Amino acid sequence: TPVQVKKIACIGAGYVGGPTCSMIAHKCPHIQVTIVDVNADRINAWNSDTLPIYEPGLEEIVKACRGKNLFFDTDIDKAIVEADLIFVSVNTPTKKSGVGAGYAADLFYVELCTRRIASVATSSKIVVEKSTVPCRTAQSMRTILEANSRPGLRFDILSNPEFLAEGTAINDLAHPDRVLIGSLGTPEGRAAQASLVDVYANWVPREKCITTGLWSSELTKLAANAILAQRISSINALSAICEVTGADVDEVAYACGLDSRIGPKFLKSSVGFGGSCFQKDILNLVYLSESLHLPEVADYWRQVITMNEYQKRRFAQTVVSSMFNTITNKKLAVLGFAFKKDTGDTRETPSATVCRFFRQESAKISVYDPKVPEKQIFLDLTEPGVVDDSEQVKKQVTVCKSAMEACTGAEGICVLTEWDEFKTLDWSAIYASMAKPAMVFDGRGILDADKLREIGFKVFSIGKGVNL
Ligand code: UDX
Ligand code: UDX
Ligand code: ADP
Repeated sequence: TPVQVKKIACIGAGYVGGPTCSMIAHKCPHIQVTIVDVNADRINAWNSDTLPIYEPGLEEIVKACRGKNLFFDTDIDKAIVEADLIFVSVNTPTKKSGVGAGYAADLFYVELCTRRIASVATSSKIVVEKSTVPCRTAQSMRTILEANSRPGLRFDILSNPEFLAEGTAINDLAHPDRVLIGSLGTPEGRAAQASLVDVYANWVPREKCITTGLWSSELTKLAANAILAQRISSINALSAICEVTGADVDEVAYACGLDSRIGPKFLKSSVGFGGSCFQKDILNLVYLSESLHLPEVADYWRQVITMNEYQKRRFAQTVVSSMFNTITNKKLAVLGFAFKKDTGDTRETPSATVCRFFRQESAKISVYDPKVPEKQIFLDLTEPGVVDDSEQVKKQVTVCKSAMEACTGAEGICVLTEWDEFKTLDWSAIYASMAKPAMVFDGRGILDADKLREIGFKVFSIGKGVNL
């Protein structure tokens, strides 16, 4: 019979664990939720007025529940001991060295935290993997738990991948398309699955709670992200054809999307996809395919990333060629540094790739982003390596407090994140302040190019033909 969950611990207070478990606390006043992390600064931030991550609607939920049934703490052991159910939401970065470097997920943090659970638990637990992990991770967690725990304790492992997207996390959590819960399929596994379904059922219709096997659940997370990224690479590949032929990628995407078998979402051509998930998860899938001796499958998925790299490079090259084949010492404004709008997250942001390209061409870059802190921008543009180039970066890159400041005196403007505020800037005033010919390169297809041309700008938009 399913256990009724009364206390939940979440290990890892990041982009996934923080919002997800805050939502559980918000929707389940009868459940006590404690979110813990090794990073004390992060926990302090969660307990302060300035949360460590920006996500529309998050602050309201956290402030309403914090201190009532939602707690942020650094005492990991205490949270483990008290909980009936533990979410593991720690980071799983791509391995930087060793076997599978550059592809495989590093499960160091997952393993560390699994061992911690095994060593401190004094009662049976449901352990839920929330972090995106390679297939069969649950099996490893189970082995670790069974080999290291006190006799007589039961650990049931579930896989419950999170599908929220940054910038819309609260809405995605409140109204998920589905909640996926994988278990081993044993009677105990099914009971644990039912316990977790009961938690979600406080606000998610039961028919949206899908229960599957562990491996299907783990693979689905990688598959969903790979298919989403593949759609973007597909439309971006078409954008290159559009630019040469004069077809309009937005018209093509719109018309394709009206086919209900294709659907309208996730067909917006861009300077490339970013974020912490897509590239990492595809690399994971590539690694998995190779490990399974399926090289054709590996090549197929790898091509999605190759196309994305090509798209970023192609955009940067268009900027250079349009500016008379040199941007040396020219001032370029970069509007947007986050990997998408409504987040301050810069992981794998295409903006950083494009800026690095501009740096190599010796441009002067002035960056403005409404949510990314200056420190983060410099961190992302500094190449890790033997020679510290941070001084050089500071000479070439200025971080500005407004779009107007970034654009003043520039010869070209690149829109690299689709922030709404960029659509309503005073483009006439910007034009007046710029060196001529004044050029705009819209890497997100959000600006009204005709209006800008009326003002006097030369305009390039992704997938729209290169008639500046
Ligand atoms: C296709 C397009 O659907 C149609 O819009 C276009 O006008 C002509 O080409 P058609 O080839 O007649 O139509 O059939 P379709 O239903 O698309 O199937 C094509 C092939 O894909 C079939 O062999 C079908 O069995 C296969 N298929 C389709 C799958 O294997 N899996 C699917 O999920 C869908
Ligand atoms: C993604 C998945 O959407 C989510 O389900 C999963 O849980 C985590 O990974 P996220 O990375 O937060 O979420 O953002 P998403 O909205 O998917 O965007 C990823 C990147 O693709 C962004 O850089 C975005 O700008 C880009 N994108 C998205 C496009 O270029 N075109 C599109 O049509 C959609
Ligand atoms: P994600 O996007 O997957 O949520 P983040 O990097 O934002 O990833 O968050 C993961 C969090 O997990 C970080 O705050 C990190 O400090 C925390 N973490 C990693 N390992 C452990 C551990 N063993 N115990 C507790 N917290 C951990």
